[in-house]
Amino acid sequence: MQKQLILGIETSCDETAAAIVSNDKDIIAHQVYTQLEYHIHHGGVVPEIAARAHVEKISPVVETCIKDADIDIKDIDAIAATCGPGLIGGVMVGMVYAKSLAATLNKPFIAINHLAAHVLTPRLISHIEFPYLCLLVSGGHTQFLLVKSAEDMKMLGQTRDDALGECFDKSAKMMGLPYPGGPEIEKLASKCVDIETALEKFDLPRPLSKTEGCNFSFSGLKTAMRQYIEGFPEGFILKENASQLAYSFQVSITDTLMDRCKNALLMAQDLTGEKTTRLAIVGGVAANQFIAETFKEFTKEQGIDLYVPPPVLCTDNGAMIAWAGQEKLALGITDSLDFKATPRWPLGKTADSR
Ligand code: KG4
Ligand code: ZN
Repeated sequence: MQKQLILGIETSCDETAAAIVSNDKDIIAHQVYTQLEYHIHHGGVVPEIAARAHVEKISPVVETCIKDADIDIKDIDAIAATCGPGLIGGVMVGMVYAKSLAATLNKPFIAINHLAAHVLTPRLISHIEFPYLCLLVSGGHTQFLLVKSAEDMKMLGQTRDDALGECFDKSAKMMGLPYPGGPEIEKLASKCVDIETALEKFDLPRPLSKTEGCNFSFSGLKTAMRQYIEGFPEGFILKENASQLAYSFQVSITDTLMDRCKNALLMAQDLTGEKTTRLAIVGGVAANQFIAETFKEFTKEQGIDLYVPPPVLCTDNGAMIAWAGQEKLALGITDSLDFKATPRWPLGKTADSR
C-alpha cells in the first residue's frame, strides 16, 4: 500500500485543531488548541469570538503539525476540512484555509461532515468492520446511527430537545461549575463515596425509558436538576450533596443511554437481518469514563464488541477529520473548491440536499 498523508483541519466549534494521518492509520502529528480562555467567562461558546480565535490560531496550529511530522508541506497528499455542521464563522475559517492550501499545493480538497468524522473515528483506532451501530453523543448532537459505509449512515433515533453534551454543560453551569461542564461533572461524581444515599436522595428521571424506539429527551432531566439545585442553600457545591447529585446525574444518563441502546440494537438487527455485534460510542461525551465503563460491562454480557475512542479522539480533533478524509479518498471521492460551508448538514444527506 502506497503511503498517503492527509492533513485534517477542524474549526467547527471552539477547538482549532489539525492533524496529519496516513492511510495506514498512523497519527503522524496532532495539535488541538482549545479556546477555553476566550469562552470561560461567558459560560459557553460565543460564535463571533470563536471565529476570530480560529483566524488567529489556524496557521500556528497547522505549521506546528507540519513541523512535528518532520515533513515538507508538499508531502501532504490531500487536505480535508470540516465543512459543517457547526458554527458557520468557524467552519468558514478552517474550510477556506484548507481550500487555499489545496489550491496553492495543487492537491485534492476533501469536504468533511463533522458528525461523520466522529462516527468513523473508531475505524482509525481499531479494526471495526461495517456495518456497526454508533451512538453519537456530543455537544450539539445525540443520535443512534447504523453505519453501513463511510458514505452510508442511517439515523435510527435522535434527541427531541437538548443534546447530551448540552445537558451536561447546562446542568454544570447551574451547579456553578465552569464550561465545559461534562468533564467537571465527571470529576465531581468520582468524589461521591456514598452512592446508595446519592441515588436515594437524588431521584432523577430516565426520560423516554421503556418507550419504543431510540429517541432521547434531556430537557426534563435538566429541569429536575434545576429543582434540586434551587432547593439547596448557597455554597452547597462545596458539600457532599454536590458530588452525590453529580453521581446520580451520571447514573440517570447511563441508564437512559442503555435503555435506548437495547432498542437501537434490535432496530439495527431488523435492518441488517443479523445480530448487531459491533457498537461504537463517539463524540465528546464518550470521553466520560463512567459511561464507557458501564457500557463495557453491558456489551460484554451481550457478546457485543464495544469501540470507544480514547478521550482525546472523542472530543473535537483534527485526526478524525484527516481520517474521514482517508475514508473518502479510499472511495475515490474528493470535492471541488466550490464546496459550500454547510452549517446544517444531517448525516445521510448530501450537503446540497440538506
Ligand atoms: O464532540 P465535542 O468535542 O464537540 C461537539 O461536536 O459538540 O463535544 C463536546 C461536548 C461538551 O458538551 C462537553 O461537556 C462534553 O462533550 N464532554 C463530556 C466529557 N468531555 C467532554 N461530557 C461528559 N463527560 C466528559 N468527560
Ligand atoms: Zn464534535
